[in-house]
Amino acid sequence: MKSFKSPKGLQRWSLEMRTQGTPVALVPTMGFLHQGHISLMRRARRAVGKSGKVVVSIYVNPSQFGKGEDFKTYPRNLTRDLQLCGQEKVDAVFIPDNAAMYPGDYSTFVLEEDVSSSLEAVTRPTHFRGVTTIVCQLFNIAQPEVAIFGEKDFQQAITIKRMVRDLHLPVRILIAPTCREQDGLAMSSRNAYLSPNQRQQATVLYQMILRARELVNQGKPSSWNPVRLQKALEPMLLETPGVRLDYLAFVDSEHLRPMQRVTRGCRMLLAAYLGSTRLIDNARL
Ligand code: PAF
Repeated sequence: MKSFKSPKGLQRWSLEMRTQGTPVALVPTMGFLHQGHISLMRRARRAVGKSGKVVVSIYVNPSQFGKGEDFKTYPRNLTRDLQLCGQEKVDAVFIPDNAAMYPGDYSTFVLEEDVSSSLEAVTRPTHFRGVTTIVCQLFNIAQPEVAIFGEKDFQQAITIKRMVRDLHLPVRILIAPTCREQDGLAMSSRNAYLSPNQRQQATVLYQMILRARELVNQGKPSSWNPVRLQKALEPMLLETPGVRLDYLAFVDSEHLRPMQRVTRGCRMLLAAYLGSTRLIDNARL
C-alpha cells in the first residue's frame, strides 16, 4: 500500500494512473475507521475493479469544525486505520498534515449556497464551507474518476453532488448506504463519545425513523402534515430524556426543501444531542 503525505506526491501518482488509463476511486475520511468506512472502500473497489486504484484519504479537516466543536478531541487512531486499509487492499492512503492542506497564508474557500444552507447549517454555519473546500482540494489532488460518500451524511453528499455539478468537476459521486449497528444506530466515529447509557438511548433516532416510515407507508392518511407527523413521534423522545432534539425535517432528496405533505419517498433527517455529543441520522421514508 502506498502512503502519501504530500499533495504533490499523490497528484503526480494519480496523474500517472490517469495517463495509463487506470481509474482511481477516492474514499475521503477523517479516520477512526469503522465498518461504515470499510463498506465505502468496498464500494470503491467495485466501482474501479481489480485493475483500478482505491485511494483513502485520512485527514481531520479543521476548517469544517466550528468554534467550540470537537476538532481537538475528534477520535484518532492512525495505526489501526492503516491496518484496516491494508486489510481492505487499498492501493494508496493520503495522510497530509495541516501545513500541507492549509499553509499559513491559505485564502481560498468553496461555498455552495443552496442545499448546504439549511438543516445542519443552522447549528454549524461554517461546516459545509469547510467540507466543500477540503473535498475540492482532495479531488484536485487525487484526480479520482469516482468518489464515494456515505448516505449517513446525506446533506453533505447532496452538497458535494451540487458542487461537482456546478463547478463541472470531472468526478462521479456515489452515495453508499448507511451502515448500522445491530440495534439500528448509524455507525459514526462520534459514537465513541457515548457513555453506555447514552449509547443505549441513541437508538431512539433510528426508532423514530422506523416509526415515521411505518406511519407514512400505512397509507392512512395517504400523506401527512409534517407538524402532525413530528407530534406523532414526540412521545418517543419524551421516553428518552437523555436525548435532546436539534432538528427533525422532512424534505425532498434533491433540493432538501421542506415538504408541505410527507409521503412515501420523502427524506427524513434529524440531529440530536446526547450530553455534548451531537448525532445525525436520516433515511428515505
Ligand atoms: O464525512 C467526512 O468524514 C468528512 O466530512 C469528509 C468528507 C472526509 C471531509 O473532511
